[in-house]
Amino acid sequence: MRFLVTAGPTREPIDPVRYLSNRSSGKMGYAIADAAIEAGHNVVLISGPANVEPPRSAELVSVSTSDEMFDAVHERARDCDVLVMCAAVADYKPKQFSKNKIKKHAANLSLELVPTRDILASLSKEDRHYIVVGFAAETENVEANAQKKLQEKNCDIVVANDVSRADSGMESDENEVTILFRNGEIKKNSRAPKKIVARELIKIFANVYEKRLTKKIV
Ligand code: CTP
Repeated sequence: MRFLVTAGPTREPIDPVRYLSNRSSGKMGYAIADAAIEAGHNVVLISGPANVEPPRSAELVSVSTSDEMFDAVHERARDCDVLVMCAAVADYKPKQFSKNKIKKHAANLSLELVPTRDILASLSKEDRHYIVVGFAAETENVEANAQKKLQEKNCDIVVANDVSRADSGMESDENEVTILFRNGEIKKNSRAPKKIVARELIKIFANVYEKRLTKKIV
């Protein structure tokens, strides 16, 4: 199977030395790429800036901004069987990029932000031959919010995690996820190292893809 995995944060430049980003470490996405390779799949990893060793046999596509990630996903999605959108894509970017470094003044400074394009929501909805897995980073009402993302972003699967906990989710080596399927089924996994969670997820994704191929749609 051909996996296309996105991982890490994006950086939205303010001026030549500053950017907006988030706390995503990339560990979950890289663990998913590793687990897919370990299971014998072909992997393309599109990654924002992350300090994690990429799997040797994955094709690594390094990007920085949400716009670069948008283009990289669109260029490659048609050639995959399973798209896993694990990246923490910035929701907003500065309206203007200052070519020169913004100088310090005594007065307050306001930055105007505009929404970035939503990559998942932009994927074609009809005749999609690949399955789409979204991630949901939530700090409250985890299941309800993840369910909403599954519908609104037209995902086949959403993997939700509570990022308000210090021992699970962003930056941590462990994760506790809830997996939501299009048919309403929900599976909760107990907290485990991201590598273990990733192996479990790869089995689930491959299973859904195979059922889709044989038209036992999930
Ligand atoms: N995502 C995306 N493009 C964006 C923002 C997010 O494709 N511009 C994807 C993420 O990769 C993830 C899913 O959408 O698979 C959900 O991301 P998340 O940050 O949890 O949710 P948002 O849609 O950004 O909504 P909110 O921040 O309001 O929870």
